[in-house]
Amino acid sequence: MATGNAGKVREIRRALKDVTLNGCPLEIVGLGDIPPIAAPIERGRTFEENAKAKSLYYSREWAGLTLAEDSGLEIEALGGAPGVRSARFSAPQPDDAKNIRKALRLLASVPMPARKARFVCVMVLSERGRVVAEFRGEVRGRIIVEPRGENGFGYDPIFYYRPLGRTFAELPAAVKNRVSHRGRAVAKLRRFLEKRGAPSGGGPDGARPVTSARSRRPR
Ligand code: IMP
Repeated sequence: MATGNAGKVREIRRALKDVTLNGCPLEIVGLGDIPPIAAPIERGRTFEENAKAKSLYYSREWAGLTLAEDSGLEIEALGGAPGVRSARFSAPQPDDAKNIRKALRLLASVPMPARKARFVCVMVLSERGRVVAEFRGEVRGRIIVEPRGENGFGYDPIFYYRPLGRTFAELPAAVKNRVSHRGRAVAKLRRFLEKRGAPSGGGPDGARPVTSARSRRPR
């Protein structure tokens, strides 16, 4: 996984723990588990561009499958902002609380029905400089006027998910993961890997079976 975030690696491990490829269990590692690789600069204008660039970059440095993701919040009344700038919305020294304050300030005069937003997650799976598959997950909600809840991270305290009547920060992690943009993208990834790893050896499109990550780094 092209991420230095150990929490994300753990989450994917948990979600894919019983998936096998060609009869072999998956071994999932993050950037923190392998020798350092210089990080690429994110320049994309979309989640797809960023995830794809990151995935292809690391897949050229790695012999197994590489999974990269990009995610963020799009607020309709702000023309889709913060979007790919979600993490650095309150630059130059962004943090979650400042990002939330900025979003609420910009939405101050916007009435509740117009405070529509969605979280988006794009995952790109690559192998040796070639994209194998892309998975997109989305979840729709509203931006409330004051943060609520202590769980999660990022914009979770202001993202109200109507079907459960809670903000994402008011949900236990397992419940959020079932409905979240990331959870939905991971479910698609899981279905894809299950088909690729089916005993017939053929992929969903008749593609060749995926090779397993035997060596750490190509030399
Ligand atoms: P990244 O893809 O992990 O870099 O996330 C980009 C940014 O989007 C994060 O720093 C958060 O600000 C925001 N974000 C992405 N996913 C979530 C989520 O599930 N909850 C809250 N904020 C999120």
